[in-house]
Parts: sequence; C-alpha cells; structure tokens
Amino acid sequence: MIKVAIFGQGLVAAHYVAGLYRLKKGEIEPYGVPLAKYKLPYSWNDQEVVLSYDVDQRKVGKSLKEAVKEALEPVVPVPDEVPEIKIREGVLANSSQGLDKMFPIRGRDQEKGLKEAVEEIAEELSGADVDVVLNIISTEPATPFESIDALREAIEKGNVSAAQAYAYATYLASKKMGKPVAFINLIPTPLANDPAFVKLYEEANSLVLGDDGATGATPLTADILEHLAERNRKVKYIVQFNIGGNTDFLALTIPERNLMKEKTKSSVVEDILGYDAPHYIKPTGYVEPLGDRKFVAMDIEWITFNGLVDELIINMRINDSPALAGLAVDLVRISKALVEKGVKGTFYDVNAFYMKNPGPKDAKNKARIKAYYDMIESLKGLGILEA
Ligand SMILES: NC(=O)c1ccc[n+]([C@@H]2O[C@H](COP(=O)([O-])OP(=O)(O)OC[C@H]3O[C@@H](n4cnc5c(N)ncnc54)[C@H](O)[C@@H]3O)[C@@H](O)[C@H]2O)c1
Repeated sequence: MIKVAIFGQGLVAAHYVAGLYRLKKGEIEPYGVPLAKYKLPYSWNDQEVVLSYDVDQRKVGKSLKEAVKEALEPVVPVPDEVPEIKIREGVLANSSQGLDKMFPIRGRDQEKGLKEAVEEIAEELSGADVDVVLNIISTEPATPFESIDALREAIEKGNVSAAQAYAYATYLASKKMGKPVAFINLIPTPLANDPAFVKLYEEANSLVLGDDGATGATPLTADILEHLAERNRKVKYIVQFNIGGNTDFLALTIPERNLMKEKTKSSVVEDILGYDAPHYIKPTGYVEPLGDRKFVAMDIEWITFNGLVDELIINMRINDSPALAGLAVDLVRISKALVEKGVKGTFYDVNAFYMKNPGPKDAKNKARIKAYYDMIESLKGLGILEA
C-alpha cells in the first residue's frame, strides 16, 4: 500500500481523490495517466489517501469525501469509498498574500509559531506512516535557500513559504520513521530546484520531485519547439496565453503569485531552441465563467528555407485540474518505486517529463516527446518497468 498525504485540498486534489477511487472501482479508464499501459511495482489500486491539509476555513474540519463532493458534484461523481478523514489545518507561513481576499484562512502557525507547527505536522505524517506527499497548494511566492544551514535558520525564524514548510516537515517525518518518503512538488515553488532541499532529502534517503506539474500548453509548446529545432527553422517569436476561471487563476491575479508561474514556464524556450526567441508565455487572466476548462491560444512564427515565414496558430479549451491529477496518479506510484530502489535527492529523468521546471537546479527543459522515451529507458534500467 502507498499511503498518501495531500497539502492543498483544491480542485486538482479533488480530481486526484475522486479519479483515484473511481479507477480503483474500475468505473473509469486510466486516460490521462501517462504510464497506464506499463506494469509498475505499484498501481493506483495500492494508493490510499490518509491525510489532507488546507488553510481554507470552509474546508478545514470537513471530511475529505464531503469536500471532494462539494468541489466536483454533479459534474464528476464521487465514489462512496473516498475516505471520511477530516481535513486538517495547515500552515500559512509566508504565503498568505491575497488568499484572505478569496476565502477565510487560518494556519496553525498563527498561534504556536511556525517551527512548532512544522514539528507537529511531521509528527502527524509519521503517525500515519506516510509514503508519498503531494504538494498542490495555491501558487505562492518563494525563493530557494541554496544551503541547508540557511534553510534551517529560516525554519527557526519562521521565514519560509508554506510549501517549504511542508517539504521540511516531510523530511522530519522521514527521519522520524526511519524510512524514505517522496515529496512531489506540483507547484512552482523551487524545491527540486533548491540544492538545500535536494541535499536534505538525500541525507534522509528520501526524494523530492518537481517543480510545477507540466500540463496544458507548456508541454505542447515544448514539443512544437522541438519539432522546429529539429528542422533548423528559426523561431521569430512565441506568444501564448492562458485564461481560466478556477481559483488557481484567481490566485494568479495577485502579482507575486503570477510571477512564479512566469518563471517556471519561460525556461522552456532557450532550453529547447538553444537561443532565446522573443516570447510572452504567461497565465494572463481570470474570467470566472470559463471555469476549469481554460482557454489557451498560441501563435508562433518561424523562418523556413529560402527565408520565407511560416506561422502556427493554436486555440484550445482544456480541463486544467484533471490533467494534473492524472499525472499525480502516476507520480505517486513511480516515486514509491524509486525510493525503494534507493533513488534519493531528486530524479531528473522523471522530472523532465512530468514537470515544467525539472530539478535539479540548472537542469534543462527538454521536449516531452524526448523526455518520455528517456524516462522509459531510465525506469527500465532501474528495473521499475519491465524491459
Ligand atoms: N493543470 C493544473 O491545474 C496545474 C498545473 C500545474 C500546476 N498547478 C498548480 O497546482 C496548484 C493547485 O491548483 P488547483 O487548481 O487545485 O488550485 P485551487 O485553488 O483549487 O487549490 C489550492 C488549494 O490550496 C489551498 N492552500 C493555499 N495555501 C495553502 C497552505 N498554505 N496550506 C495548505 N493549503 C493551502 C487552498 O485553500 C486551496 O484549497 C496550484 O499551485 C497550481 O499552480 C496546477
């Protein structure tokens, strides 16, 4: 069994939970789970959600089943098998900017201080014998620490972001349990890209995967750029925007939060083309009636043979949250298999396919069509996939 803890019980988490228990019942096909056709040491049938945390006071104290129902029904049916565990209060740390304008928030660090709150959460994670942690809280502003000493000092002073606090609590829990834990960071906060966290996890034989799940337009842009690069076409510009109506997009209307997304999305251009073509790649707006099915538009021009100019225009509407939830189903089982093979710190070959900003620090983005096959080879080499 893989015991899973969730930080951030929002729309992605709701789709993960409902989809997982529907998969277990055989109610849906595993579409959107990239490695579904491969046999791994673990399947989705082995995943069980044992803990969930949030800071939205409307969710804290509710049962997981009730919160998932409220988020998804009547559009997606929520099976009875979804656990009735109570959603627990997380920490606000340095990450409350603007959230309180969207909903009432509270964190347990407000009363007892961050260090004590982190230790308490570590205690809960180890008490529940957690194997894998999914971090899917709202996008937050955060900077990497680079060194373990600087990170430890910031924890003492309570000067970290919420995701950094959860990653530290998970590290403490792993030490306490004496077993490896995998922390999957699906948001832009640099964790797999922060040498401090990678070293810390290495020391605990644990694994941090990240950063920022690659869904929507970014992996498609990466593959189109690869196509153009392979044919030596010279890209003149790339413009891409996303407009959505879910609370993730609402949170991104707060400038510091939007900046984090921009950072993780833009590295793709230079990494794949080898030069920095002029580009504008950002989530650009919140329009409530669009809901979770966001609107993406893309325009790319390039110079082809004999100096002529071609152009590609794409428009799409995509369900945002289920896309990431499908990746999470895979990442939970892959990360558990990886730590059992002794893989620790972070693991580029998996990050390069599933993440927008694959760690470790300075690792390059590559086209997902390449990353996919490289990952398959690497997992076969480790004996996680059948050769
Ligand atoms: N396809 C995608 O939807 C996609 C792709 C890549 C990354 N992401 C990232 O996943 C995250 C979640 O997206 P979502 O659509 O579920 O958003 P959401 O707004 O529905 O959910 C976020 C949840 O996190 C909670 N939260 C905020 N701060 C917290 C804290 N300090 N501790 C615990 N919980 C906290 C919020 O209350 C909310 O319930 C976002 O950061 C988003 O950028 C999403």
